[in-house]
Amino acid sequence: MPHPDVMEKLVSLCKRRGFIFQSSEIYGGAGSVWDYGPLGVELKKNLKDRWWHAMVRARDDIEGLDAAILMHPRVWEASGHVAGFTDPMVDCKACKARFRADKLEDAQCPRKPSKHPGEHGDCQLTEPRLFNLMFKTHIGPMEDTASVAYLRPETAQGIYVNFLNVQQASRQKVPFGIAQIGKAFRNEITPGNFIFRTREFEQMEMQFFIDPESDHMQWLEYWKAQRMAWHRSLGLSEDRLLFHQHTDKELAHYARAAFDIQFDFGGTLGFQEIEGVHHRGDFDLGRHQEYSSKRLEYVDQVSNRRYIPFVVETSVGADRTTLAVLVNGYHEEEVPGESEGRVVLKLDPRIAPVKAGIFPLVKKDGMPEFADKLAKELRAKFPVFYDEGGAIGRRYRRQDEVGTPFCLTIDGQTMSDGTLTVRDRDTLAQERVAADRVLEYLSARVL
Ligand code: GAP
Repeated sequence: MPHPDVMEKLVSLCKRRGFIFQSSEIYGGAGSVWDYGPLGVELKKNLKDRWWHAMVRARDDIEGLDAAILMHPRVWEASGHVAGFTDPMVDCKACKARFRADKLEDAQCPRKPSKHPGEHGDCQLTEPRLFNLMFKTHIGPMEDTASVAYLRPETAQGIYVNFLNVQQASRQKVPFGIAQIGKAFRNEITPGNFIFRTREFEQMEMQFFIDPESDHMQWLEYWKAQRMAWHRSLGLSEDRLLFHQHTDKELAHYARAAFDIQFDFGGTLGFQEIEGVHHRGDFDLGRHQEYSSKRLEYVDQVSNRRYIPFVVETSVGADRTTLAVLVNGYHEEEVPGESEGRVVLKLDPRIAPVKAGIFPLVKKDGMPEFADKLAKELRAKFPVFYDEGGAIGRRYRRQDEVGTPFCLTIDGQTMSDGTLTVRDRDTLAQERVAADRVLEYLSARVL
């Protein structure tokens, strides 16, 4: 069965509950840029932390880096972005809408949504024009060609230009990788679908440097498998994930082979790329060596060979992955024995922004004091939310909607025997756990 389209409901939930807001909303909003609220920033940070742990901290063959967004403009000439990072754009003179000329079959005619642009009798599409997606700015007070700079459209180039700095400082030997997380900017012609395609976004990229005389295709397979396993570890359903191999027509200018990891966002959006795994050969280092006139060869101390390594890149969007886990987690359910259903975000407990809701059943008999003390103790380890307002059922629903995996209720029995109720978000099962064992109980499930 196809997955339902939950995007509209999700956008509303994200705003209402403080995950994601439209940027500059009080001014009517800025085009396709979004701000992360209290819960959204925690969720995205948890994803980034998991990526950093898997890619950098838990390995001895990958080093971390945090390169600047602004770089020397020659970087983008060498990388091919000045000449080639373009999309063909067409305008409709009749309805004034703008489309990507190569994606007309994915777009709807604003006047007749059942048709693609150009198919409706009134459409007047212009000839395609190439449009560079890089944002241009100037460094210093003079706005002349000598001061031109670009907001980086990918983080990868910061890694290439630092390849030898990192390799020599860390004394890594090929094969090894360099990873970083950071903002990237693209002046997309047709952004949209909430945080799926935006003009400012975060990438988590890793470039793995390989001996070109080794079995380099094996590394492509290795990284495909590693990255797919990572997405599954976030709780994304198996049936919503697949690989898409780029055809010759789809391959980027730098790529020898490329695979997208696609996630099924449901509805008409369907399967879309969340990560690219690319074999970039020696294109980038070779070009930077040519344009900078600085040698970027690796010296193999054992064989005494000098060579420009091949690169396998893994490049995943932090925002797109955030959207994938939200879409994957969103459920509307009947609740046995209750007239009203519930909205629940079934986020993996390890990425959920709040790990436990803590509720005194009533505001008397020492329950609030007990619950408040417990909340303070747990908060030292992970985010928890104390809530003493309203009916217990309503408090559960509020936590279900933001994906809190456990709710702890302090009741009359707690005051006599020191146990409390732990309610599981997904199964709705409740069990009694000794309050002095709750930290251990939760840690095993949410960290
Ligand atoms: N360094 C290679 C590179 O940038 P890409 O396929 O263009 O490859 C990699 O981008 C990932 O970055 C995508 O899979 C997606 O998750 C994310 N991404 C790219 N453009 C984006 C946009 N406009 N908005 C949000 N995420 C984007």
